[in-house]
Amino acid sequence: MTEKPVESLKRSEAEGELARLAADIARHDRLYYQADAPEISDAEYDALQRRNAAIEARFPNLVRPDSPRFRVGAAPVDAFGKVEHKVPMLSLDNAMEDEAVRDFLARIRRFLNLAADAPVDLVAEPKIDGLSCAVRYEGGLLVRGATRGDGTVGEDITANVRTIRDIPQRLLGDSPPVLEVRGEIFMELQDFQALNARREAEGQAVFANPRNAAAGSVRQLDSKITASRKLRFFAYGWGEADPPVTGTYSGFLDRLQTLGLRVNPLTRHCKTAEELIAYHAQIGTTRASLGYDIDGVVYKLDDLRLQERLGYVGRAPRFAIAHKFPAQQAVTQIRAIRLQVGRTGALTPVAELEPITVGGVVVRRATLHNEDYIRDKDIRIHDFVVIQRAGDVIPQVVEVVKDRRPTDATPYDMPDRCPECGSLAVRPEGEAVRRCTGGLVCPAQVEARLEHVVGRDAFDIEGLGKKQVPQLLDADLLKTPADLFRLTTDPVRRERLEALEGWGSKKIEKLAAAIEARRTIPLDRFILALGIRFIGEANAKLLARHYGSLEVWRQAMQSVAAGDAEARAELADIDGIGPKLVDAIAEFFAEAHNLDAMDDLLTEIEVEDPASPEAGGSPFAGKTIVFTGSLEAMTRAEAKALAEKLGAKVAGSVSTKTDYVVLGADAGAKAKKAAELGVATLDEAAWLEQAGAR
Ligand code: IVH
Repeated sequence: MTEKPVESLKRSEAEGELARLAADIARHDRLYYQADAPEISDAEYDALQRRNAAIEARFPNLVRPDSPRFRVGAAPVDAFGKVEHKVPMLSLDNAMEDEAVRDFLARIRRFLNLAADAPVDLVAEPKIDGLSCAVRYEGGLLVRGATRGDGTVGEDITANVRTIRDIPQRLLGDSPPVLEVRGEIFMELQDFQALNARREAEGQAVFANPRNAAAGSVRQLDSKITASRKLRFFAYGWGEADPPVTGTYSGFLDRLQTLGLRVNPLTRHCKTAEELIAYHAQIGTTRASLGYDIDGVVYKLDDLRLQERLGYVGRAPRFAIAHKFPAQQAVTQIRAIRLQVGRTGALTPVAELEPITVGGVVVRRATLHNEDYIRDKDIRIHDFVVIQRAGDVIPQVVEVVKDRRPTDATPYDMPDRCPECGSLAVRPEGEAVRRCTGGLVCPAQVEARLEHVVGRDAFDIEGLGKKQVPQLLDADLLKTPADLFRLTTDPVRRERLEALEGWGSKKIEKLAAAIEARRTIPLDRFILALGIRFIGEANAKLLARHYGSLEVWRQAMQSVAAGDAEARAELADIDGIGPKLVDAIAEFFAEAHNLDAMDDLLTEIEVEDPASPEAGGSPFAGKTIVFTGSLEAMTRAEAKALAEKLGAKVAGSVSTKTDYVVLGADAGAKAKKAAELGVATLDEAAWLEQAGAR
């Protein structure tokens, strides 16, 4: 079926389309996130989202309460509102030992006047280590999400809850007037690790465990951040419900699934204490491979009438109990603190421990995260500390056992030199992580760095990539970027390359040709290849264009590094160059090792100055252009590339710094803004004309 263009949809058609898209996208979310069986490609899914967004943009009054747009987050709020839980959110009693499970069941039988060996219908399920959440549906529509808070009053996190794909915005099938679903929000280990890796690379503090990461993500005032965090949800309970929930707990779980919610697939029926204990043991052995953290299992009486008869003691039900796993914690002594250097140069302090067994695994080291962590917890060398293992995550030091502090406990001073290469290690303001600045020489960073140097946006050497670089490093054929250009020309290296597995003479010839083809490189690519933090393609172009030649740029950057205020001001004044980037450049050029490596590289290659934009006489040279509306003669990407070729900078929004706004068809808010600010505008024909594209 071919779709009608959004521009020609009538209002009634748009309404129907939006309903169809909401249902379709919700179904694909379920297939992808819950059934793990997507029916369409990511690109097709994105196209549905785009069409929905386009129709909503044209008919803002038709945005549905269950619109897929809420999945990507809404405008940030200043604070969370409060939500009262009419049915309190309670907690569970814990059983640590098997005996306590037998007692739990014996108590239930006594209370219900059952024989001591009478079978009891129970449901056992994993206890997710996340945070509990109440999601309210009215007439099948998600209207509110709330945290547990103190059990009586929680926080309104509706916008954040809407971004969680396991939580439908509209229930499937016949919807009850009111149903408040309760369950656990959590983060899977792989998403937690990816998030921390990203944060580490960006110099932000890492989360200590998936639970903290989930909690931190849910309590974001900006729901767009929550949307980027891949949170998951298992439903296991209810609060207010009209009509009331009746029958059995297992029946309720089935119903939740029919309504489109996700429930834990490891849920089991049990009838005796021994079956419960066997379940606990079995889940315990699969715990490490679940992909998410659990801290025990929960047993619940299945019959809801019996649940009601049993009722509550204090803040915990008599009809349910949490059977915890033994804590993955132990106390041991720190022998020393060592620094580990990551692929991106981040320095992570690591505690070398007196080896100790935790949860059946010998632990010798634990991460201390960063210097703030060490200071906040007052961790000293030779201290006795509580260490903890959580799932697959690296063991951590939870706290110091202060009353066992030995007299020789020594505070740790974070060094300001990289232990791997001796380069200066600096901690940028506002960042938690200290980082080695010897990017071009540091052995810990060399692999990531060389992969970047040969990458598509930098030297782009065909036949040299993520696969080959580690192999060449292992074979000791490479250390610095300059070595890349000696691979096939230096007879010793070439001979060793020929001896390597997978490198036939044909392949080496091809590589030699690819390397030769890149001995001359444009200045912006060269700047990008240096791998200075925060310098991406756009910034590298800005720098190349502004300084005009390698020599001028390099001189200026060295002056910046030497603290020359004028040079710094010139750099900082370039539109698009932020203060973080200025600092990163200063750090890079202050490290003599980097300059040596750069000089070495320059003995092998030629750097081409950018063509002076002014020389071309383009009216757009040095100007800032914004494109808006749809262009007919070329795509946005093409227009952007052309503008940049003419020496212009392309911006996304109109401001007083904008020189020209190019108006395509149906230009909207940006055209208005241009008029307000008195920014010059061009229609597409004029743009093409002046750009010389016509
Ligand atoms: S049932 C009346 N089931 O554990 C209490 N709770 O220690 C109903 N939790 O606050 C809770 N997984 O955050 C239940 N499968 C599960 C759970 C679970 C995790 C959490 C929940 C609760 C805490 C109680």
